[in-house]
Amino acid sequence: MQKRIEWIKKSLTTCLTACLAGGLLFSGCAGRGGEKVNEIQIGVVVYDEYDTFISQLMNEFMEDVSEQIKNGKRISVKRYNAAGNQITQNEQVEEMIEKGCNVICVNLVDRTDPSMIIEAARKADIPVIFFNRELVEKDLMSWDKLYYVGADAFESGIMQGQIAADAWFENLETDRTLDKNGDGCLQYVVLEGEAGHQDSIVRSEYSVNALVDAGIQVDKCESSIANWSRAQAQTKMAQLLNKYGDTIELLLCNNDDMALGAIDEMKAQSIPREKWPVVVGIDGTDVGLEAVVNGDMLGTVYNNKEGQARAMLQLAIYAVTGEGYEKLELEDGKYIRFPYMRVTNENIGEFTE
Ligand code: BGC
Ligand code: CA
Repeated sequence: MQKRIEWIKKSLTTCLTACLAGGLLFSGCAGRGGEKVNEIQIGVVVYDEYDTFISQLMNEFMEDVSEQIKNGKRISVKRYNAAGNQITQNEQVEEMIEKGCNVICVNLVDRTDPSMIIEAARKADIPVIFFNRELVEKDLMSWDKLYYVGADAFESGIMQGQIAADAWFENLETDRTLDKNGDGCLQYVVLEGEAGHQDSIVRSEYSVNALVDAGIQVDKCESSIANWSRAQAQTKMAQLLNKYGDTIELLLCNNDDMALGAIDEMKAQSIPREKWPVVVGIDGTDVGLEAVVNGDMLGTVYNNKEGQARAMLQLAIYAVTGEGYEKLELEDGKYIRFPYMRVTNENIGEFTE
């Protein structure tokens, strides 16, 4: 007992924990293993805390935790940043386990390499909720206490393509400025996220498929990897402008940050907006939505971070206490995936309120 109190005192200084505010115990509630659980100790590690979408997702998560604490739940959270290194992340997970976390949330650095984490968690019998960076099914199925929370990548690509397709057809009815060279064909560039990330692979393919399915003739200038990063996208855009001048008609960006990086470059070069390609993003981050409001971006596809954060926490509570299973919409007992939403200036108000 003494040891446990000391641990709580120590963790109070090293991590966010407002658990004493509520003062309530989960007295009598049994974990999934049937044992009594006094406190939900969540360890969370992100692949990179400077990623705009991930940092906003984490803010939502921490707000939800505070809300639960206010409602009397005893929850503490230890946060880690793997800073893009899988070995670091493996060590951080081991540390969480040593420090007494009873559930772990992991935003994998390398989604193909969760084996060390799964092994360590299984040994200690601690459930793991993977999020945002989807591991392969075989790995997720390798133990019953592994889960995944994310979104349906196919849908995001399709919706992005549809936003651009709608704009193309609408524009054919008006001044036809979108088809800059008047060849009846849509010259496009894709700015891609990390190679190997499920969202980059799927979004890059399905956004273009949606244009073709809509009956548009497309002409690919090229696709260029900018690793989800605004700064890298700006550099890539400088190169693209060098090569293609203002002939690019559509810029499909795997996320808002890269769309904004490309826009940064066009602004830096003082290219007037009527010469820009149409820019479409994905995520609906605060800065992304702002760019839709001010017309820099035609649209984006909303990646429901609020839903994902809430589901992660509900799942963590369930995994530790066995409570709230009915609230979880688990697919195959393993997956929670949130739908995306199209965002353009027609419905932007619903997202910025
Ligand atoms: C988001 C990106 C983010 C990436 C990180 C994707 O779902 O759209 O903005 O950089 O996840 O894994
Ligand atoms: Ca054209």
